[in-house]
Amino acid sequence: MADDDVRDPLTLLADDRARARERDDPCASLCTLASVDAAGHPQARTLVLRDVDDRLAVFGNETSPKWQQMATAASLAVVVWLPTLQVQYRLQCTTRPVPKPRVHESWLLRPETPKRLDWFYTREAAQSTAVASREALLAKLEGLTLREPLLAPRTAAGVFLEPAAIERLDLATDDGVHDRVLYRRQADGWHTVTLVP
Ligand SMILES: Cc1cc2nc3c(=O)[nH]c(=O)nc-3n(C[C@H](O)[C@H](O)[C@H](O)COP(=O)(O)O)c2cc1C
Repeated sequence: MADDDVRDPLTLLADDRARARERDDPCASLCTLASVDAAGHPQARTLVLRDVDDRLAVFGNETSPKWQQMATAASLAVVVWLPTLQVQYRLQCTTRPVPKPRVHESWLLRPETPKRLDWFYTREAAQSTAVASREALLAKLEGLTLREPLLAPRTAAGVFLEPAAIERLDLATDDGVHDRVLYRRQADGWHTVTLVP
């Protein structure tokens, strides 16, 4: 049986992010996502952590090497640090693709320059490949002829993050002993264990 009175940690995370947004927390809409690259090296980067249909999601471009890593990994590590609350979350996640129509809908809301870059990845050079110089990049970006109105390229992509485990570390305790709780998703719900901080 799932532990009684265990709060769903996803609701806890959503509530904490909402509180952080109210405090203008610069990290409220961000996460750090770590994956393992083709050579076996850990790679971490900042991404916008989105709420899509009440699920956590990240968006990017399939030309990026990380996209393959994310799609094929057994699990990904995601960190959310909310400095205004002094709270950290660490998530172990599997992923599922966000349906393309949903990605494309959201893509339309992007600013102009990221939209052009997404087309650049598809037409000219994949994300994270080397270019001759910043000037050469800007010139090619400027020279890209795109059909108006702009629609998402086929490489625009998103994945839902589906946490199997969530650890919440709260530094803002009155007694100075940090509160660290691990939630594990099991068939009958979330189970919790307190960890030595
Ligand atoms: C505040 C911030 C938000 C970012 N959001 C995204 C994002 O949502 N999607 C994305 O692909 N890259 C985003 N980036 C860029 C990534 O951190 C990274 O530089 C890029 O995706 C290339 O990473 P890679 O070489 O690991 O593939 C963001 C960077 C910062 C600083």
